[in-house]
Amino acid sequence: MGRYDDYKRRVLQVSQRLSADGYFGSKSGSAGNVSMLVENEDAVVVTPTRLQYDVMTFDDICVVDFDLARIEGDRKPSIETPMHVAAYKVRADVSAVIHTHQTFASALSILNQPIPPLFDEVTLAIGNTIDVVPYALSGSRELHDNVARKLANRCHCYILQNHGTLCVGTDLDKTFTFVELLEKSAHIYMDALSTGKPITVLPEKTVAQLHAAVIARQDREIARRREPSH
Ligand code: 13P
Repeated sequence: MGRYDDYKRRVLQVSQRLSADGYFGSKSGSAGNVSMLVENEDAVVVTPTRLQYDVMTFDDICVVDFDLARIEGDRKPSIETPMHVAAYKVRADVSAVIHTHQTFASALSILNQPIPPLFDEVTLAIGNTIDVVPYALSGSRELHDNVARKLANRCHCYILQNHGTLCVGTDLDKTFTFVELLEKSAHIYMDALSTGKPITVLPEKTVAQLHAAVIARQDREIARRREPSH
């Protein structure tokens, strides 16, 4: 078995599930991308560019280094690979990145509307806000730079203005859940906004406590990775 086989299998599985669940905007399309960081190596296992998920196979998944040099695979990696690499570089707690075009979060992306802390189970999972990353063209250096700057808030979900979303996590399963929690929050928030009635958010003190727990979890992951045995 190859060194990257498990990673490739997971990236393919999760990408196809996200596509089948409609998180990439169209179930028959190729939008969005998914990656995992290889443990103890500056290498990324990532979906290829412009290939429909329903025909994607294990051999189509790319492995590249942080400079995008090919390690395994014949296809070109996603054009957003530098955005994924930027996330791995600026966030030592992150080992998986998912970029989607999911519907309700995309609606908020064109309203340039962050999602405030609304539910404690969501805030405990993804942090105190779902912020909007300013618009820049897909695949551009400017987009990657904008994302890198925003990731300093140490949350796990972001809305990309007039584009889609970005979720980051310690592993791919958790990151998949963040995608779901983001869509749940966006859907409920949009519905609530459409009533025109005032919206209540979580109390500030509660948000501070929950966000501190998110940061503590990230710090534990960073410490785990720095252990010599790791
Ligand atoms: P790729 O097909 O290169 O992954 O690009 C899709 C996308 O969503 C760009 O933002």
